[in-house]
Amino acid sequence: MATEITTTLNIPDHVPPELVWDHDFDSFCRELDDPFLAASRMLDGPPIVWGRSVFFGRPAWILARHALIEEAFFRTEVFSSERITPDERSGMRMIPVGLDPPEHGKYRRILQPYFSPKSMRSMEGMVIETCDSLIAAIADKGHCEFIHDFAARLPNMVFLSMMGMPLDMLDQFIEWEQLLIRAKDDEVRTGAARSIMMYLNGFIAEQRKETTTELMRILLAAEVDGKPMADIDLLGTCFLLYVGGLDTVYSSLGWIFRYLAQDQDLQQRLRDNPKDIAAAVEEFERAYPVARPTRTVAQDCTFHGVPMRKGEFVILPTYIAGRDPAVYADPHRVDIDRKARNITFATGPHTCLGVFLAKREINIVIEAFLSRFRNIRVPDGGGYDYHVGGVFGVDRLPLEWDMPNDKGGL
Ligand code: HEM
Repeated sequence: MATEITTTLNIPDHVPPELVWDHDFDSFCRELDDPFLAASRMLDGPPIVWGRSVFFGRPAWILARHALIEEAFFRTEVFSSERITPDERSGMRMIPVGLDPPEHGKYRRILQPYFSPKSMRSMEGMVIETCDSLIAAIADKGHCEFIHDFAARLPNMVFLSMMGMPLDMLDQFIEWEQLLIRAKDDEVRTGAARSIMMYLNGFIAEQRKETTTELMRILLAAEVDGKPMADIDLLGTCFLLYVGGLDTVYSSLGWIFRYLAQDQDLQQRLRDNPKDIAAAVEEFERAYPVARPTRTVAQDCTFHGVPMRKGEFVILPTYIAGRDPAVYADPHRVDIDRKARNITFATGPHTCLGVFLAKREINIVIEAFLSRFRNIRVPDGGGYDYHVGGVFGVDRLPLEWDMPNDKGGL
C-alpha cells in the first residue's frame, strides 16, 4: 500500500505526516473484485494510519493489524464506544454497544442470559423452520438470487419471531434496513431510522399491555440501578437488536455462499460430514469478517507511539484483522482445518451478544442447502454485486444447483 503524503489536506498538527493516508477508505476497498483482498492491502503499510475520508467522509485513525484491533477492543478507557445515534435529535443511545463500562455492563447483563448458548438452542427449531420455508419457495426452480430470495429474509424473519412482531412486516423491515444502511443521502438514512423508531415505540407500548415473547418479558421487567429501564433505553436496545443482527448475518451468508459456490470439493466434504460445518463456519467468519466497529478517542493519548487526540474517530476493521499474515498463515486461503480463533465478533466487553445465534443460523443454512442441492454454483456470466461501508455486504448473488435426482445421489 502506498502511503501518500500530501500538503493539501487540513492535517491536525499532532498527526505524523508519514501516517497520513490520502485516500477514501470505501473507494480503496472497492478497487478490486474482492473487497477483503482490497482492504487487506492496508497490511502492507503502517500499522496505524490517519485516513482523510474514512468514517462517513470524515477523517479517522485506521488500526490495520490484528494485534492492535484486538487490544483496542479491550482498552475502553482509551477507545470509547459512546457514539452518535442514528438520529441525533432523538437522544437515543445504542444499547449496550454505544455505552462504556461500567454503565455498559448494567445493560449487557440484562440481555446476556437470553443470548446464552443454552437459550439460543431453544430457538433452533424456529430457525430451521424459517430456513426450510424459504428454501421450499426456491428449491424446484433450480436457481435463485440468493440475497433477495434468501439471505436478506432469514435474519429478518428470525428477528421478527424473537421480538414477537408480525411476519407481514417482513418487506417493510427489509426496506427500512436497506435505506438505513445503504442510502447515500443522510436525510434518507435518518428518515429510515425515524420510521423504525416510530414502529418500535408503538410495538413497545403494545407489549407493555400484553407481552408476547421471552425477550420482551426480559426487557420490560429489567431494572437498571433499581429502576425500570427508561423508555428511550428500551427503544435503543430494540433498535440495536434490529440493526446488529440483520445486516451482519445476511452479509456473512452472502460472502460464505459466494465462496462455497466456487469450491465443489468443500461442498462435498461438508455434505458428507455435516459435523465439519461448525469448523467451516469458524473459518468463514475468520476469512470474511464483515464489520468495522468504530471508537472515539476518550482522552489525549499515545497509542503504540502514535499521538491521538480526544474526540478523534478510530476504525477497527475486522476484515483486515482476519487476513493478517502475522496471525494466520496463508490468510486468503479458506482452510476449515485451521482451528484458529478470530475477532470477527469482536472481543472484550463488547463481544457480540448474538454470536451463538449467528453461528447457528449460518450452520443451519449451510446444512440445509447442501443436504438438498448439489453442485451449487454461480451461473456462467452471473457475476455478483457488493457494497462496502460499515459492513461489507453482497447485494446480488445468482446461484443455481442440481437436484439430487438430476443425475442421482448427492
Ligand atoms: C455474522 C453475524 C454477526 C457479526 C459478524 C457481528 C459482529 C459484531 C461485532 C464486531 C460487535 C462489536 C461491536 C463493537 O464493539 O462496536 C457486535 C456487537 C453486538 N452484536 Fe453482533 N454480530 C453478528 C450478529 C449478531 C446477531 C444475530 C445479534 C442479535 C440478534 C447481534 C447482536 C449484537 C449486540 C447486542 C452487540 C453489542 C454487544 C455489546 O455492546 O455488549 N449480533 N457484533
